[in-house]
Amino acid sequence: MNVCPVVCAVGSSYMICVPVSAKVLMSVFVDGEEYTNNKCGVKISSCWVQKFVIPQEKLDRAKAYTVTYEIIYREAYCSKKEKPVSESFSFNPVEKKDDIRIYHLSDVHGKKASAIKAGGYFGEALDLLILNGDISSSTQTVSESLLPLKIAFAITKGERPCIITRGNHDLRGKYAERIGEFYPLCNEKFYYTVKLGPVWFLVLDCGEDKNDDHREYAGTIAFHKYRQEETAFIHDVIRRSAEEYENDGVKYRCVVSHIPFMHTDYNPERGIHEFDIEIDTYTEWVRLLNERVRPDFGLFGHVHQVCVVTDSEKYNQKGFRAPVILGGEPGSESVEGCALTLKNNKAEIVFSDDKKNILTSETVHLSHFIPGGNCI
Ligand SMILES: [Fe+2]
Repeated sequence: MNVCPVVCAVGSSYMICVPVSAKVLMSVFVDGEEYTNNKCGVKISSCWVQKFVIPQEKLDRAKAYTVTYEIIYREAYCSKKEKPVSESFSFNPVEKKDDIRIYHLSDVHGKKASAIKAGGYFGEALDLLILNGDISSSTQTVSESLLPLKIAFAITKGERPCIITRGNHDLRGKYAERIGEFYPLCNEKFYYTVKLGPVWFLVLDCGEDKNDDHREYAGTIAFHKYRQEETAFIHDVIRRSAEEYENDGVKYRCVVSHIPFMHTDYNPERGIHEFDIEIDTYTEWVRLLNERVRPDFGLFGHVHQVCVVTDSEKYNQKGFRAPVILGGEPGSESVEGCALTLKNNKAEIVFSDDKKNILTSETVHLSHFIPGGNCI
């Protein structure tokens, strides 16, 4: 069994996710300390992904970790085990104060090889990989459900941090109800904050793109209350702003979400479109972000575009007051993503494809940010 770990950044921790193809007892060692995957004291051996939560500061300091596993045949007493196997990995935390290189992919829709090529844009200079939803077109199979981790490992080799969100297509299929077993979570939620070097991220999760009672879902989803809970979470982040986005070490504030919730596809002749959901909730999210969090930019997918949207254009009818970067488009043969360099309070944005062609590029001044948290 190949060991292919992915270091996902969530909250103040990393969740190291290791896909497995056998029943194993697995541990991760960081600076001599063992981390196990257990539930209420019982080690988990029957799963598709072994997960280990490591405090960020410990892995950042150690810059290395070792994964060990033993194939196990569970018995009531004296379970049988095969010879242990170990593999060590180096880790490159985001330690720089500036010049941060992020590659963002979304809406890959199963094009694994192309996504891996596109995500290799920065090579060894990559600081952070973001996979922002709809990496598969559904979670109908285990293979589709594991695809984000497979792509993330192929690009990062377990040596660089990743942020992996879920998209609406990840909620469609046999394994949607078990998606939390395949994806990184923070306190059992898909929304959280995380800080990597000078960049603070607010990761939001819209869930599906149509209302809970849409016939396509056949009553399998309940996102309305989940989004309301998320509004309460945003309020809590604002209440704790001093330890979140107003923390001394934060130079850039970024919102990440698969669905660009500032987009309202409303047509007066047609009326409310079936994708225009939660208008009150999403308008409130935009207001809270504009007035309180004041992000420098946002990274989104879902609409299959690679471009930067500014106020009141096609994809920002709700008026998000920071650049909306749409960073994922599946071409008929290719995958297009966004290479982002944050430097000197500017974002150098390059949209590139799987052949490393530069499609377009532009530099955006992150003018919303003024040290001390004031907005222009
Ligand atoms: Fe989507």
